[in-house]
Amino acid sequence: MTVRLLSRLGIGLAWLVLLAAAPLGVAAGDNPLLPTIVPGKGDKCVEPTDVMRRDHMEFILHQRDETMHRGIRTTRHSLKECIECHVQTDDQGNYIPINDPQQFCSSCHTYASVKMDCFQCHATTPEQK
Ligand code: HEC
Ligand code: HEC
Ligand code: HEC
Repeated sequence: MTVRLLSRLGIGLAWLVLLAAAPLGVAAGDNPLLPTIVPGKGDKCVEPTDVMRRDHMEFILHQRDETMHRGIRTTRHSLKECIECHVQTDDQGNYIPINDPQQFCSSCHTYASVKMDCFQCHATTPEQK
């Protein structure tokens, strides 16, 4: 009984450690509880990855204010650029909207219950070239 209990506990702990150790942003393999995030194009983001994980909304929300109210326009934190790098294509080579359920912007947001209205106005794919 004690042995069984311990081994059950052991399994439980191993799971906890695994879950805690799995960095948000690394493909979660077969665990359906964690978002699967495909890396963007190139080898780095516009800011360090850990900063982007935590603060990406600050950059784009902030820029929206500056862009809309003060006429400042930089491309470093442009929403269009985010999509250029983070969009995926399907088997036919067509862009998949960035806010589709399994796609970059939605993978975490669904997981974290974040709702955002940006794509009511903004394009979800790069302009077709
Ligand atoms: C009601 C329509 C609308 C909504 C909703 C909206 N935007 Fe915008 N946004 C605009 C317009 C119009 C511009 C200026 C034209 C342009 O640059 O596309 C703009 C510009 C921007 C820019 C600067 C240009 C660029 O492409 O980088 C950013 C960044 C941005 N919006 C982010 C956001 C984010 C993030 C959200 C969601 C939190 C959002 N917007 C929601 C209409 C909207
Ligand atoms: C030049 C291409 C490029 C642009 C532009 C870009 N990204 Fe990235 N982004 C990447 C790459 C590559 C990574 C993964 C880096 C790594 O693995 O360390 C990444 C990582 C991220 C992450 C962390 C994902 C994770 O694994 O947890 C977030 C969030 C993110 N980007 C959001 C954005 C947003 C929002 C924008 C627009 C302001 C943006 N990115 C613009 C290439 C880009
Ligand atoms: C690594 C996971 C992850 C990825 C990838 C990601 N987000 Fe987020 N995002 C979050 C989390 C978590 C929050 C909520 C943070 C909070 O409430 O403090 C959030 C919040 C936001 C918000 C603020 C919503 C609001 O109104 O409060 C915006 C805007 C946003 N994300 C845009 C984007 C865009 C655009 C992309 C794709 C280019 C993206 N995010 C990709 C995790 C992610």
